[in-house]
Amino acid sequence: MLNIRIEPIAQKKPKPDQNKLGFGNYFTDHMFMMNYTEGKGWYDPRIVPYGDIALPPAAMVFHYAQEMFEGLKAYYTADGTVQLFRPQKNIERMNNTNERMCIPQLDPDDVLQAIKAIVDYDKDWIPTADGTSLYIRPFIIATDEHLGVHIAKNYIFAIILSPVGSYYPTGINPVKIYIETEFVRAVKGGTGYAKVGGNYAASLKGQEKAEKLGYAQVLWLDGIHRKYIDEVGAMNVFFVIDGEVVTPALDEGNILPGVTRDSCLALLRSWGIKVTERKVSIDELVQAYDAGKLDEAFGTGTAAVISPIGELNDDGKIMTLSGGKIGPISQRLYDTLTGIQWGKKEDTFGWTVKVN
Ligand code: COI
Repeated sequence: MLNIRIEPIAQKKPKPDQNKLGFGNYFTDHMFMMNYTEGKGWYDPRIVPYGDIALPPAAMVFHYAQEMFEGLKAYYTADGTVQLFRPQKNIERMNNTNERMCIPQLDPDDVLQAIKAIVDYDKDWIPTADGTSLYIRPFIIATDEHLGVHIAKNYIFAIILSPVGSYYPTGINPVKIYIETEFVRAVKGGTGYAKVGGNYAASLKGQEKAEKLGYAQVLWLDGIHRKYIDEVGAMNVFFVIDGEVVTPALDEGNILPGVTRDSCLALLRSWGIKVTERKVSIDELVQAYDAGKLDEAFGTGTAAVISPIGELNDDGKIMTLSGGKIGPISQRLYDTLTGIQWGKKEDTFGWTVKVN
């Protein structure tokens, strides 16, 4: 159990217009912080005003990227309570990432307490407009002032909060995705399954290319065969092929084990829809498209929720899906998932956790 001290902000900031939030543009009045030093463990848990973190220029995170982050959301429900969606899954993934990045483990109960405490403290920032939520971004950085490539002995764990609308400016409307064949995001044995900034830095070159061509994001292929589908930049990906839902399996360690991905698998199975986690090759997709059997495609993620894919570009071959509209499975998943998250639908899975 953490003993969290509180240092309130002197003057609260004005709140942004809830209908123009976008994603990750605004930050609340406070943040949670805690330090770690080898031999001492995690210490000084505190809620302090949101503001700059002063670090020496030689702080290791700036040079060797020993860091990690997470992403989850808090929702205002119809009955005025605030709830989180499956926070334990994020916390579990957080410690898996820490293990890969040689960052010290956190006590899962302490992390949940910290998340609840900061969300509750800044709850006046949780937006209530349709389709909005409070995005929670926990992260850890290595802070040793040192230039040798070693595991750090000092870290900061922080949680910042951002009131958000939809991740894509198009909202729930389908996005156009570019299949990347030149650059890769992750390889077997790398950090693909971990939530680390380096994976996203490695994705920027492909993302830049895709955006110049008018695409929202990149669909990444595996780094070895350049053949099997991994994931989209900020989302896991699902395809509906001839009535069967398929999504790339996690076993190669290249893919982020998404909480939304896992929830979609559970929902689809509970509806009796056939869903398989397996390798999906780009050739299989193209063949299914040519045979008129690629019924739907969608991305899943905390930030993106369910994002239908309206177009795939495979080296100039344009595949238009569901007539460029949201398909029935994507729509049902979106409605059910967001219904549970906003407390409008019964949570039969026990996924939601009250903050207050
Ligand atoms: C999320 O969905 O929470 C993510 O972290 C994706 C992204 C915004 C990098």
